[in-house]
Amino acid sequence: MTPSAATEAEPLIPVVRARTVYIETFGCQMNLADTEVVLARLGEAGYRRVAEVEQASLVLYNTCAVRDHAEAKVRGRLGALKGLKRRRPELKIGIMGCMAQREKEQLLAAYPHVDLVVGTDQFVRMPQLLDQLEDQGRLAATSFGDFEDRMWSATRSSGVNAWVPIMRGCNYNCTYCVVPFTRGREKSRAPAQIEDEVRRLVDEGFAQVTLLGQTVDSYGKTLGDGTTLAALLRRVHAIDGLKRLRFVTSHPKDITDELLDTMAALPKVAKHLHVPAQCGSDRILRLMGRRYSRADYLDMVRRARARMPEIELLTDIIVGFPRETDEDFAQTVALMEEVRFAGAYVFMYSQRPDTPAANLPDDVPVEVKKARCNHLLDLQLVHQGQAYAPLTGRVLQVLVEGPSKSDEAMLHGRSLGNLNIVFPRVDAAGTGRDDLIGQLVDVRIARSTSLTLFGDVVA
Ligand code: 5AD
Ligand code: SF4
Repeated sequence: MTPSAATEAEPLIPVVRARTVYIETFGCQMNLADTEVVLARLGEAGYRRVAEVEQASLVLYNTCAVRDHAEAKVRGRLGALKGLKRRRPELKIGIMGCMAQREKEQLLAAYPHVDLVVGTDQFVRMPQLLDQLEDQGRLAATSFGDFEDRMWSATRSSGVNAWVPIMRGCNYNCTYCVVPFTRGREKSRAPAQIEDEVRRLVDEGFAQVTLLGQTVDSYGKTLGDGTTLAALLRRVHAIDGLKRLRFVTSHPKDITDELLDTMAALPKVAKHLHVPAQCGSDRILRLMGRRYSRADYLDMVRRARARMPEIELLTDIIVGFPRETDEDFAQTVALMEEVRFAGAYVFMYSQRPDTPAANLPDDVPVEVKKARCNHLLDLQLVHQGQAYAPLTGRVLQVLVEGPSKSDEAMLHGRSLGNLNIVFPRVDAAGTGRDDLIGQLVDVRIARSTSLTLFGDVVA
């Protein structure tokens, strides 16, 4: 059959097969990991993932509630689905993730075309909830439940990187943050189960594993048997064939000397900490309920660098928290100057309903928030440029992750820290190098921008 004949034979509206799911994920890595779990459960129930909303019998949004902006995006998506639902009333629309957990039944009231609202401990039951829908119509399932083992087993597309949740929830109560409401109390997963999963992933060919938790360095506390993240790192590190081991996100208060000593001693563990400072002013840190001072944070940095001089520190910063003055902001600038982070995510404070900080007036004008945000982003780029320039000529070990997103002619990977390094996808003789994907290679750095290091493979 000629291609044109095939095109003619195709109906104008794509055929929607039974049990097809379109899922879009917003927010953090934990949500991406949850999406892999829900796809595994739906796969067991006969669902196939499709790339277009129009081809789906089920549309799911796995949502984020950390900032208003993330929720606004989902509201936009939901609004756009109204017409499709009118044309295809049998289409099921579900909302899962933190926004679902936060708003619960209110979402069903606000969006009459949404069928299902599924909380952060309930999505593992998605197939059963879909069956329930057939019987009883629209529903919200948002209770915090027992932690099922099946919660963890996930479908991953093959690749280099696998993310493995090792805990859920958060026991901190930072005053600005919805996560304690949307993800509940901290619960750690048993180390033997994590080890088994990583072993399986390595057998499947994954080279790099990132252990995930909201405050990953408090891993083990709820197990009550003295298990720590350091002990887990030692256990997972011993798995033959694993090339790199990472973990995110850390709370500054839980970075122990034991953890730092372990990171320093284990060669496959990335010399990298994502350890949000949030702010450099003690006054604001107290209002944020962060439970450390500026001096504590700097002490943690000193302890880390004493053991791993080249460790790369990545931070999150919130600007424009209620009552943040120019003087408070200057303290954040000074902290960034002092630490010189390898990377920074900078956010404008977004007041979240029901959080303790919502009792304080959101009194920093949005133009001031924007200006402070841009100031820090510019400063960070200067710091990165200054850190990268002296790396020219150095040879760094890179785990190759795949083609560069911004330039198909290049491969990209990360250093043992977290530096983004790219090199040509073909060698000087014109031979392709895609077989290096998933391998550790030595790359000599030739030049850099403030975002990327460019080099070539050392023979
Ligand atoms: N407003 C702005 N940023 C926030 N974050 C968490 N809550 C808020 C909020 N209400 C940021 C913090 C956190 C990151 C995941 O999101 O910096 O580390
Ligand atoms: Fe939110 Fe604080 Fe918990 Fe991080 S540590 S998830 S910012 S409450």
